Amino acid sequence: MPISNPERYTVTAALIYANGPIHIGHLAGCYVPADIYVRYLRASGKEVAFISGTDEHGVPITIRAKKEGLTPQQVVDKYYEQIDASFKSLGISFDVYSRTSKPIHHETSREIFRDLYDKKVFVEETTEQYYDETAQQFLADRYIVGTCPVCANPNAYGDQCERCGSTLSPLELKDPRSTLSGAKPVLKATKNWYLPLNKMQPDIEAYVNGHSEWKTNVFGQCQSWLKDGLKPRAMTRDLDWGIKVPVEDTEGKVLYVWFEAPIGYISATKDWLIQKNGTDEGWKKWWQPTNGGGETKLVHFIGKDNIVFHCIIFPAMLMAEGNYILADNVPANEFMNLEGDKISTSRNWAVWLHEYLEELPDKQDVLRYVLTANAPETKDSEFTWKDFQTRNNSELVGIYGNFINRAVVLTQKFCEGKVPQRGELQEIDQAALNDLAAFPARIAESMENYRFREALSLIMDLARTGNKYLADTQPWHVIKTDPERVNTILNIALQISATLSIVSEPVLPFTAAKIQEQLGLSGKNWQDAGNADLLPAGQPVLEGKLLFEKIEDSLIEKQVQKLHDAKRLNELEGKTVAPVKPEIQFEDFGKMDIRIATILEAENVPKSKKLLKLLIDIGSEQRTVLSGISEHFKAEEVIGKKVLYLANLAPRKMMGMESQGMILMAEDRDGSLAFVQPGKDVWNGGTVN
Ligand code: 2FM
Ligand code: ZN
Repeated sequence: MPISNPERYTVTAALIYANGPIHIGHLAGCYVPADIYVRYLRASGKEVAFISGTDEHGVPITIRAKKEGLTPQQVVDKYYEQIDASFKSLGISFDVYSRTSKPIHHETSREIFRDLYDKKVFVEETTEQYYDETAQQFLADRYIVGTCPVCANPNAYGDQCERCGSTLSPLELKDPRSTLSGAKPVLKATKNWYLPLNKMQPDIEAYVNGHSEWKTNVFGQCQSWLKDGLKPRAMTRDLDWGIKVPVEDTEGKVLYVWFEAPIGYISATKDWLIQKNGTDEGWKKWWQPTNGGGETKLVHFIGKDNIVFHCIIFPAMLMAEGNYILADNVPANEFMNLEGDKISTSRNWAVWLHEYLEELPDKQDVLRYVLTANAPETKDSEFTWKDFQTRNNSELVGIYGNFINRAVVLTQKFCEGKVPQRGELQEIDQAALNDLAAFPARIAESMENYRFREALSLIMDLARTGNKYLADTQPWHVIKTDPERVNTILNIALQISATLSIVSEPVLPFTAAKIQEQLGLSGKNWQDAGNADLLPAGQPVLEGKLLFEKIEDSLIEKQVQKLHDAKRLNELEGKTVAPVKPEIQFEDFGKMDIRIATILEAENVPKSKKLLKLLIDIGSEQRTVLSGISEHFKAEEVIGKKVLYLANLAPRKMMGMESQGMILMAEDRDGSLAFVQPGKDVWNGGTVN
């Protein structure tokens, strides 16, 4: 059962692998909603610990290190700095952003492992695992490739075939080979410690079934795991990058990354207190039921690929330990796609946060807004730059910014830049104030139920209410006849602005701060929102800069182009040189008569997309060659070129014409063609030997 409205919350956001930068998919799936929720809780007067950090162990780190030619330590140091800095710039308000490489995390993980070990929770099992004799190490699933038993893809991984999507185990691969050395791995016995999830199933089932209020996608995924029957899972692995197993004679073994990473939430809490107070004293109130102190509500924000670990495996570990609270909710989102395609780090199809912040500085709130308005809360969603532009221009500039700007500018103009006194209320004023009073509770309800899209749409409705009120009351006309009435209207418009700044702060913290500075509003929180007297009459209202600026087409076009360029570059970088063809003898080569020739004339072949008809001088005579290069060269640009020419290739008929011999071309990495030319002006007919 969910805990209703406690006063203390531990909110965690996934400890992302420190093996690459943050992209908008991570933000929309996990970090922006987590930050909105936490900012809402804080504004509502709750005690909150907002915990996150980087996951610095596991195979994803070592794979990246190999790819970048760095050590795993260098990789995690590099990405920790970058990720930490970019979250800060986006205003993600973690109380602590820790790292699983910190000693406090190693200690905490080893302690919990040892505790479960001593309680005999684990089952010891010896199994046969693939071992690379050249590299002298056991191979994690991702380090083994082989032929997929389902689709015959020759490069399927030990855990998954990326071509057909099948989940695999390394033993199912045909012709397995190690990606470390290329060697054929051998099976070797090894002992590991397993968490017997099969035996724990009834307890886990009771826990999950007690949370039917969880989001459908989360609850459904848990049910499907439970229905299949939980299987024991190894909590130690034969690897050298990670946390040493706190048991004797376990050289070469580390804790399974998914055992220790979620413990990272606990150690990060301790790290936070140590940084703040010099001691971790007090950490337990965030993680363990307190004596008479009321229960803390634990909420994990994650992406959908992490559901099983947070809803089943981590709770199972904590249940076995016995002293911990379990997650009250795990509001995992689905995925966000980008411009019609899945976001992919390996294909470089992503909008990277650190680049966004550099290229669109001061637009943090625009990104937070668009990612929330399009959040993949119940199904996958889509980010497009066009939509980004439209939402900025029509919603942030056109509705929200427009309302605040009008309220402030009209106050400057008609009320000497001070909050005017409200006079007698008309029906329309009372209706606006009633609306104002009702919005905060409605928005709060959406926030508390993790429906941030809905919350944002209500926030925008409040801005629309403000706009409509100004449009209906028309202070710019009324000023000519009834300045007193304008005082009332602008007082109400400013009170709406004040509340709008409070309720939109979780989503738009930078903007809210600007508005509050303009209005001289400080120290107010959610309980104050909706109040018609937040701003006392006479308080100065400062003219501020525009909150949002229109985004031009050129900016959007540049970003879309950049996406495509980055993907293309990535494809090119991934291209490998074709393997050398089977051996031939010198006589085979000697049969070819390659000569120097000059192109005299060139014309397009009618109805052919590819062919140019060339007249060439080969010294002894002139010949006609049909060459498939017209997608790469215009006829006029090839005239006069000195080329290499295969003179004794049997003639071929193409498009009803005869082609005699062939011009030699080199193909570049990107598929473009280049003429192969002699290094000096060799005479036509000169031979190539
Ligand atoms: O998917 C990931 O990036 C994992 N490193 C998330 C771990 S979340 C938690 F368990 F630490
Ligand atoms: Zn396959």
